[in-house]
Order: sequence, then structure tokens, then C-alpha cells
Amino acid sequence: MSDELPALPSDKIPHHVAMIMDGNGRWAISRGLPRLAGHRAGTESLRRIIRASVDFGVKYLTIYAFSTENWGRPPEEVRGLMRILENVIDKELVELHKEGVQLRHIGRLEGLDPNIQAKLQKAIELTKKNDKLVLNVAFNYGGRDEIIDAIQHMIEDGVLAAEVTDDMVSNYMYTVGIPDPDLIIRTSGELRVSNFLIWQAAYSEWYITSTNWPDFNKEEYHRALEAFAQRDRRYGGVTAAVGKVHG
Ligand code: IPE
Ligand code: IPE
Ligand code: MG
Repeated sequence: MSDELPALPSDKIPHHVAMIMDGNGRWAISRGLPRLAGHRAGTESLRRIIRASVDFGVKYLTIYAFSTENWGRPPEEVRGLMRILENVIDKELVELHKEGVQLRHIGRLEGLDPNIQAKLQKAIELTKKNDKLVLNVAFNYGGRDEIIDAIQHMIEDGVLAAEVTDDMVSNYMYTVGIPDPDLIIRTSGELRVSNFLIWQAAYSEWYITSTNWPDFNKEEYHRALEAFAQRDRRYGGVTAAVGKVHG
């Protein structure tokens, strides 16, 4: 399938793509299905997007699967989402490992069912030497919790105020060792951050699509990467073309 998509400029492929996989509930409701059917359909979409990331040469893929705020949903939905994570690990781990995917987790393990914690840890351990793609799963993740945890650990480590730098804070984040996301894709059209990677996204490019997550596919991912390749990332500076101050 990738052969049918035009090649992307290899120097403009984002190293790290992060995705807010949103709109599962609306996808289901619009079909007269229960919300959980949308979450299940979302896992199929995720399978495609992981493979597409490898094909496109993306090295890090972060997926927002369950936020600290999602605990506020009805208990049956929360339980269903937990079950879906377990099923995905059970069904996909061997294949992902074979394909060279390294699994990581960002978020708090505490608060998750011990069974899920054990499965996640096992998957992380099994795949830790893989280097085709780092798949970073944000589960029980909140950007503010991440910053709170980082501050607490810095204080516990006796870090002095004058020692606190940008790099040091990054190294206390759950994403230690992972470059900041170059591109963040949000499906379902919402124009908000929803507590996702609030430290790391300082200079990420955004791509928002109205497509709900279960319908997001390789073609649209490709369009997002094409759009990214056109972006002029100035980081507060000026581009060469418009940067001339004098004649
Ligand atoms: C995203 O889909 C999945 C999770 C947040 C777990 P939603 O469940 O938020 O779907 P909508 O936004 O209600 O349509
Ligand atoms: C963000 O989506 C969280 C995940 C995709 C896991 P939400 O649906 O929870 O976000 P809000 O409520 O629209 O901000
Ligand atoms: Mg949502």
C-alpha cells in the first residue's frame, strides 16, 4: 500500500510523532453502537498506524490511550478501556516484538490494576533492545502529574535551585531519553491539549483532523506528514528568506 503513496522527503520526516487518539465514542454513537465498540475499533486503527510509522521511517510514536482525567468516565467504560489495553498486550506483543518495536510506558503505573502493571512491565522488559520503532504508550498519563512527579523527584534528589536547567527537567520527565515530539496529531477535531505532553510540546507542530480515530488511516497519516514537511519551524527566530534586516 505504501508504494501507492508518494514518497516523503526523507529529511522532513518527523523523528517523533505523538497522537491524541480521540473520537472513538463519537464514531460508535454515530453508528448506533456502544462507546466501547468505538474503543475496540480504535485498536484496529492503532495496528495500522504502528505499521505505517515503521514504513514512513518515524522512530518514536507516542499514543495517548488513557489520561488521568479519563478515570472520571462511567465505571463500565473505564473497566472496558483497561480490558482493551490488556487484550492488546496479550494479542499484539509477540508480533510487535518480532517487528522490532520497543514498548515504553509514560504515566503512573500506580493506580493501575496489578495485573496490568505486570503485563506492561513484562512487555517493556521483553522489547527493551528493539530499535525499529519506540512505541510510547501514555496510559494513566497526565502532563501535570508528570511535572509534579518530576519536581518531587528533584527535591528528593536534593537538586539545588541553581542546578535546574531545561535539560535537567527533561531528564526528570517520564519521556527521559526520548526527543520532544516534532508533530502532534489530534483526531476528531478538538482544538485542545487535554493535558498531553505539556512540557515536551513547547515547539511541536500540530495537525488536527476532524476524522475520528477509528477512521484515521495510513493515507491521512501521510497527508499529515506532507503538511509537516511544509512547515517552517522557526523556534522564535526568522527564516533565511525573510530574515534579512538590511537591504
Ligand atoms: C478517545 O476517544 C479514547 C479515550 C479518551 C480513551 P473518546 O472516548 O474520547 O471519544 P469521544 O471524544 O467521546 O468521541
Ligand atoms: C484525550 O481525549 C485523552 C485521550 C485520547 C486518551 P479526551 O476525550 O479524554 O479529552 P477531552 O475530554 O476531549 O479534553
Ligand atoms: Mg474524547
